[in-house]
Amino acid sequence: MKQVEQLKWLEQVILDFYATKPVAPQLVETILYSVQAGGKRLRPLLLLELLEGFGIRLTDAHMQVAAALEMIHTGSLIHDDLPAMDNDDYRRGRLTSHKKFGEDMAILAGDSLFLDSYALVAMAELPSQIRIELIVALSKAAGTFGMVGGQVLDMEGEKRQLNLAELQAIHAHKTGKLLAYPFVATGVMMEADSQLKSLLQETGEWLGLAFQVRDDILDVTASFEELGKTPNKDLVADKTTYPALLGLEEAKDFLEMSLDKVETLLQDLEKKTAFQAEKIRKIVESLRLHG
Ligand code: IPE
Ligand code: IPE
Ligand code: MG
Ligand code: MG
Ligand code: MG
Repeated sequence: MKQVEQLKWLEQVILDFYATKPVAPQLVETILYSVQAGGKRLRPLLLLELLEGFGIRLTDAHMQVAAALEMIHTGSLIHDDLPAMDNDDYRRGRLTSHKKFGEDMAILAGDSLFLDSYALVAMAELPSQIRIELIVALSKAAGTFGMVGGQVLDMEGEKRQLNLAELQAIHAHKTGKLLAYPFVATGVMMEADSQLKSLLQETGEWLGLAFQVRDDILDVTASFEELGKTPNKDLVADKTTYPALLGLEEAKDFLEMSLDKVETLLQDLEKKTAFQAEKIRKIVESLRLHG
């Protein structure tokens, strides 16, 4: 299926979820302001392309899982931008949620996105055991043992100089876990054996680490127009990032190396299974910054 069609379907699933008569219309307005601001939708696209790469025909249920992941990611961005956290004024090319609607509404919109996503997965038309596993994995990727845990390490790390191992652990949790979820969820939905599940997870975790290193690099190299968020934020905050710790060139080399690693793992998947990596490979290659 074409990516534009996947994205339209995804959008519709989210809109349908919020089409029920709201208790508080301003809450739904705040949620949709951030969801519809036009992120890259990388995480849901990875999930959908992985499923199709394994020959699975997409259904509403897959879209609901993809939508849940994008909703949690969007909630994480709303909270990440709050004054108590990164204090950002722009996101996805628009004023941040708290700048537009106030901190109270931004906190609550994030809360809703985190919680609503679990209903979407729970309602998806999939065998109940699979649904349960998807929910457990989503909680592990997003909550105390995943993104939220990583955000705590990130905030705490701002107060001091970090070494590479500490920084890698922050990136692996705050960003890597949610980016690996498409790979984990694909393994669950295919009812893959444990060996294939770990190969998928490893691929996702390398991609997740690469993605945050790329985000760190773009903070110092890209413009507001390219990012849709304020550049040089990490630089001004004197944050420990890959470019700050390794230098820009070495950080770019690390990004290349980790994307090469993802490529090797994709080839491994192709060898061991009937997986067709072409479309995922395209997404991975689009993340390269040099040449
Ligand atoms: C931004 O994620 C936050 C990070 C985890 C680096 P994305 O770069 O995927 O943001 P959107 O969804 O495209 O806005
Ligand atoms: C984002 O890390 C991690 C999240 C869980 C949202 P950053 O703080 O670097 O993300 P940006 O640069 O604000 O998008
Ligand atoms: Mg942050
Ligand atoms: Mg931030
Ligand atoms: Mg960043």
